[in-house]
Amino acid sequence: MIILGIETSCDETAAAVVVSKGNKIDVLSNIVSSQVNIHKKYGGVVPEVAAREHVLQILPVINEALKPLLPSGHPPLSFGYAQDKCKGRKIVPSIDVIAVATGPGLITSLLVGVETAKTLSYVWNIPVVSVNHIEGHIYANFVGLSSKFPPKRRAGKVQSSKLFPAVVLTVSGGHTMLVLMKGHGKYKTIGETRDDAAGEAFDKAAKLLGLTYPGGPEIAKYAEKFTKQNSKISNKIQNSKFKIKLPRPMINNKNYDFSFSGLKTALMYDLKKDKTWKKKIPEYSAEFQQAVIDVLISKTIRAAKEYKAKTVMLTGGVAANKELRKQMEKAVNNIKFIMPDLKYTTDNAVMMAVAGYYKAKRKEFTNWQKLKVDCNLEL
Ligand code: KG4
Ligand code: ZN
Repeated sequence: MIILGIETSCDETAAAVVVSKGNKIDVLSNIVSSQVNIHKKYGGVVPEVAAREHVLQILPVINEALKPLLPSGHPPLSFGYAQDKCKGRKIVPSIDVIAVATGPGLITSLLVGVETAKTLSYVWNIPVVSVNHIEGHIYANFVGLSSKFPPKRRAGKVQSSKLFPAVVLTVSGGHTMLVLMKGHGKYKTIGETRDDAAGEAFDKAAKLLGLTYPGGPEIAKYAEKFTKQNSKISNKIQNSKFKIKLPRPMINNKNYDFSFSGLKTALMYDLKKDKTWKKKIPEYSAEFQQAVIDVLISKTIRAAKEYKAKTVMLTGGVAANKELRKQMEKAVNNIKFIMPDLKYTTDNAVMMAVAGYYKAKRKEFTNWQKLKVDCNLEL
């Protein structure tokens, strides 16, 4: 089965082609046009600007993603449906199904991907599957069954009986969720953020620290600087010298919900009190990052134990955080741990195509006329 994935939920225009062969899913193309530099100057995503940029990018991005399927030297498709100049034939790429993110996300951004998918489904006369953006993130863990991936990160090669139940932590700019996954397509949300998502908290904390958008990678960079600077200092001196302490919100609550807005406020008050904070950005970054990591890991491990998970999976943009990856891997201990390759943590269309593959296998198609955007789509 060959699947075209389309993703336009927020500020990345993405298209990808994956091919399934037996128990193996190969990535033929993975094209992402990021708008980060456009939104940087506003300190966050401006929805209308994002939507307009998606309109400009969607066809070139899809054309680029389809290249491996076209005869070599073939000119780009015009809306994926072109006259072959020499023979007058219509070229239809050999796609079996289109998988598109229909929500949650920014409505005007989602509309661009969904309307494009509807049109292609109609002109190519192929089925379309609607993919929940969070489900896509979860399936980033099922990408790349090729030998390039370390075996312990290859979810798809593992038999379902050894994989499920899985506890999946999805941490992105818009979502922080703990999901119990009992099988393909079977999800139960066991915990969510009550206010800011983990990525949003990173972005807001970065803003307070005068760093650029997106804040997660910036905070991670400064935190690493702090760790490197202090790796030579003994623990004893370190503990007496560095006093910044931020709260770990809801870490001891019995439920699996999260709350990060208070953490950001605590940082704001500490910065207000500290006249020398500008000299301590690496230290504030390290403590903020560690506070988020502590809460995420504590709740995930507790959930994994309670639900007797066979695997713990990590996904979403914040899963690009190297400290989180490292510390979670250590904390899961004797449970199998799966996380996506770095390039599949932030928004991409490969994860949509892979989630779409599993949905197509279950024949969960949607007629293109009925395909709808739902910016609050639940898992
Ligand atoms: O999944 P994603 O690309 O988009 C959404 O679905 O929201 O996630 C983007 C989020 C941003 O908030 C960004 O700051 C965060 O992921 N992020 C990180 C890192 N890289 C991206 N957060 C912490 N550490 C990182 N290295
Ligand atoms: Zn996302």
